[in-house]
Amino acid sequence: MQDHTNDKQFWNNYVTYWESKVQQANEEENAKDKTNDDGILETYFKKLKVNNKDQVLDYGCGSGRLYAIYKGTVDKNVYNYTGIDISGVSLEHAQSKNPGLEVNKNLFEFNGTQIPFEDERFDKINCFGVFDACSQEVVLGELLRVLKVGGLLLLTGKNSKYCSDDEEAKIAEENARKKEHPNYFTDAASLIGQLPTHNAEAVETCFFRKRGDFPKDRSMDQMPDKFYEWAIIIRKTGQYEKKQFTKFSDKFSENCKEELKANQLAAQG
Ligand SMILES: C[S@@+](CC[C@H](N)C(=O)[O-])C[C@H]1O[C@@H](n2cnc3c(N)ncnc32)[C@H](O)[C@@H]1O
Repeated sequence: MQDHTNDKQFWNNYVTYWESKVQQANEEENAKDKTNDDGILETYFKKLKVNNKDQVLDYGCGSGRLYAIYKGTVDKNVYNYTGIDISGVSLEHAQSKNPGLEVNKNLFEFNGTQIPFEDERFDKINCFGVFDACSQEVVLGELLRVLKVGGLLLLTGKNSKYCSDDEEAKIAEENARKKEHPNYFTDAASLIGQLPTHNAEAVETCFFRKRGDFPKDRSMDQMPDKFYEWAIIIRKTGQYEKKQFTKFSDKFSENCKEELKANQLAAQG
């Protein structure tokens, strides 16, 4: 299987598919993937409590659908929004859909690992529906580097161990693999546990037990043993120190790894 992590061509081709998924989620009451609905993005973005003065980074901004939501949260003409994405085609779409957004002015293409800004540039960072496509340990380090001390980061992802009866989660993982879609699972407990050693802390945690709970905003604040998705607000508590995170993500969920192991054993007789 080819690895398309940080593969610009892959993400350039993905844009129109993503836009159709968002449109479907917004228009169809019973859309299968309601997580892509703008309302959910807005609910979670609001947790960042963005104000007029905040410099906001939209990491993996895609076609810029957050921009309209952002504009609705600040006073007219106070736009401190910056969007970055690995896909230049996404940014062209963002520009043509949103008057006010312009490539190389407030939209920037980059390589998917090194954020093209200086340390402590942003007050608030939105990373919604992107982290599971990324080299997570590297990207989290970069997000914390460009965040100001006291700043907030919204991060969402999938957990490495989900419920064994979560058939939809299992099917989604299989489908992503068939499409060679970068699909990283996070050991969320490990990520959260490591934050203090990186001068950061989780100030709000939302855990979604099964696939489908996130779009319904059906979350638990205490971490269950197994769950499918998570959304956390991270606060930077002290200055950035260049230090690597211990590995907390993998291309396969624990469920999938267990299944592969069982199949191997069965094949060996
Ligand atoms: C599912 S879309 C979400 C887009 C946007 N955040 C939204 O909610 O509409 C994933 C986006 O992540 C971008 N992406 C993929 N890998 C990335 C990386 N390593 N760094 C930044 N963006 C990346 C893709 O190009 C795509 O625009």
